Amino acid sequence: VCLVTGASRGIGAAIAARLARGHRIVFLNHRASEEGASEVQRAARDRGECIESVRADVADEGEVRRMIDRVAERCATLDVLVHNAAAPVALKPLFDLDWTDDVLPQLATSCRGFLNLVQAARPLFVSGTRIVVLLSDAIFHTPPARMGAYLTAKAALWGLTRAAAKELQPLGVRVYMVAPSLARTDLVLDLPERAREIVAAQHPTGRLVDPEDVAAVVEMLIADAGKYMHGANVVVNGGLAF
Ligand SMILES: NC(=O)c1ccc[n+]([C@@H]2O[C@H](COP(=O)([O-])OP(=O)(O)OC[C@H]3O[C@@H](n4cnc5c(N)ncnc54)[C@H](OP(=O)(O)O)[C@@H]3O)[C@@H](O)[C@H]2O)c1
Repeated sequence: VCLVTGASRGIGAAIAARLARGHRIVFLNHRASEEGASEVQRAARDRGECIESVRADVADEGEVRRMIDRVAERCATLDVLVHNAAAPVALKPLFDLDWTDDVLPQLATSCRGFLNLVQAARPLFVSGTRIVVLLSDAIFHTPPARMGAYLTAKAALWGLTRAAAKELQPLGVRVYMVAPSLARTDLVLDLPERAREIVAAQHPTGRLVDPEDVAAVVEMLIADAGKYMHGANVVVNGGLAF
């Protein structure tokens, strides 16, 4: 039984679809885009797989509790929790960043969302539950300009996830981080196409990360292959740093 946050499109949708292909029951969380969620569900149903949509703003404690209650009505345990949701990134220079309008929404979805999820889902965790958190390669290597709010939230989420790895280990809960480089999704819609091409060319592979590349790594980590990788941060950047 898996719950993937922010799975109505982009990387989350690819993760949800991939997990469902392994005959798992997948709960697809999203905040607003009903259409995207229905599309992912429909495609899974056509393949004979099971994806159920559970809407909630992960930043809202009450909504997350109600979402987890819905999961608990169907399933006694949660085997895999993937915290993938992230607020849209508006490119803004540091001098123009507003704490309330720019930084807090990023922190709310990334960090408050993670806390809400872990605290609400605690009764469904069993020894062997896996948690995967999506970070960003940009916080570990050269960061792009004008993404201060997003980078702040991802760096804070890194700390929080490491705290979770430390504190949940005694429960037998495995925690992983996955940090992709730039992918072609809606996350940074105002990034010019030329900038995407330049970043793609910087990758030794000559292309940006594909959501499927990330989904494959998530599946590898939650499988037996990841058993001895508790607390690991796996960078998915096609060798960009080398
Ligand atoms: N794309 C990249 O270049 C890239 C690179 C490195 C890391 N990542 C990470 O990979 C993850 C997925 O990114 P993506 O590019 O696939 O993003 P995306 O295409 O923008 O999709 C974001 C998803 O998150 C959901 N979401 C946003 N705020 C939410 C909230 N408060 N509660 C619940 N759901 C919420 C959206 O649902 P609604 O549409 O319903 O709001 C959507 O399903 C993120 O953690 C991101 O930081 C992405």
